[in-house]
Amino acid sequence: MNLRQLSTETRGGLRVELAPFRPDDIDRVYWLCQDPEIQRWTTVPTPYHREDAQRFVTEYVPTAWREVDDGTFSAEPVGAELVWAVRVPGDGPTAGLWGSLGLKRLGQRRLEIGWWLGADVRGMGIMRASVAKVLAVAFDALGASEIWWYAMEGNEPSARVAQRTGFAFTGLTTLPMHGDKPVWGAVLRRGGRLMFGPGGARIPS
Ligand SMILES: CC(C)(COP(=O)(O)OP(=O)(O)OC[C@H]1O[C@@H](n2cnc3c(N)ncnc32)[C@H](O)[C@@H]1OP(=O)(O)O)[C@@H](O)C(=O)NCCC(=O)NCCS
Repeated sequence: MNLRQLSTETRGGLRVELAPFRPDDIDRVYWLCQDPEIQRWTTVPTPYHREDAQRFVTEYVPTAWREVDDGTFSAEPVGAELVWAVRVPGDGPTAGLWGSLGLKRLGQRRLEIGWWLGADVRGMGIMRASVAKVLAVAFDALGASEIWWYAMEGNEPSARVAQRTGFAFTGLTTLPMHGDKPVWGAVLRRGGRLMFGPGGARIPS
């Protein structure tokens, strides 16, 4: 499987492609991350400068992809986040780079998934389809044992994506990166059921 070129489709038939960010994405990432919801609910810097986008695209993202390319990437250790850019191909009104979807490595084959999507294409199922694809890849190709999702309490749109892709909610917790703010947690374990697609797609145990 080529992790650099994943594709999927929304239930409405919109094609979505997942691939590493490219240097020519910097301005677009900068623009997308001005969105107040992305700044409110994610850990992107606030205010978000062009240098933040540049660092993300040219330094943060390539680290894990270098491991993929030289064959040393493993889900086992704590390590750099593997991040895909979420794009709609073609030249239609929704075409282009719209989001980010990443897997942080927590150690012992446990991953933490995180995402954001541009405001103009929310509610179209793009993130739900992308997450379902990356979850299947994480269990099948990367050998993850469990995948965790965390969101600041109240982030209903993100929780909806987690719910629709089969996560089981584990309740409120706190995380160092969010200080003492309450955080929702959810987990999907190997052998769990993905709720995406006709009848749901079974993750092999
Ligand atoms: C979280 C986020 C990626 C969700 O994007 P999205 O475009 O709503 O995702 P999808 O369209 O794939 O939505 C999945 C489902 O949630 C539903 N949904 C979306 N927003 C909703 C809301 N506010 N209330 C209820 N349902 C909602 C969608 O209709 C869809 O349901 P369906 O599949 O049955 O049609 C987007 O809102 C975002 O980027 N927010 C800012 C950043 C952020 O919060 N990141 C996550 C941090 S944990």
